[in-house]
Amino acid sequence: MKISSSMIKALNDQIAMEAFASNYYLAMGSWCEITGYEGAANFFYQHVDEERLHMMKIVHYLNGVGIPAVIPLVKAPPKTFKSLESVCKTALKNEQAITAAINKMAELAQKQKDHSTFGFIQWFINEQIEEEKIFETILQKFDLIGRDKLAINEIDKSLASMITTNAN
Ligand code: FEO
Repeated sequence: MKISSSMIKALNDQIAMEAFASNYYLAMGSWCEITGYEGAANFFYQHVDEERLHMMKIVHYLNGVGIPAVIPLVKAPPKTFKSLESVCKTALKNEQAITAAINKMAELAQKQKDHSTFGFIQWFINEQIEEEKIFETILQKFDLIGRDKLAINEIDKSLASMITTNAN
């Protein structure tokens, strides 16, 4: 199968982006854990695994077509966060950046008539719709329920209830 060098670069960049997203969620989960937001911590820890899975999908795709995936050095995420709301805002912003990168890859695949990669990317396009929706829904809760201690406790509990077992 012929995959262009620009597409290989985009796919490898995406591996790095997903690895960074996984690391970022690890920092968020860890901050939530030490801050006492148990539900949020478990919710973000689940996302660590999901992003790792996304990364692995691309690693397998490249390796599967005989192009060795480039395993990246992962940048360090922030050590601390301002509030649970700011964590969620950052998560949405990061997901939007990932969506933009995925969409760019889809455009490149279309332009290059790379049907295989275009097909492969479809899963990511659908996944990004879900991911953005999750964080938009959480952020709405701050406006609906509030930002005092009781409200944050409620939001923490609802984050726990959003943990799914179908990370695929
Ligand atoms: Fe792999 Fe959350 O995007």
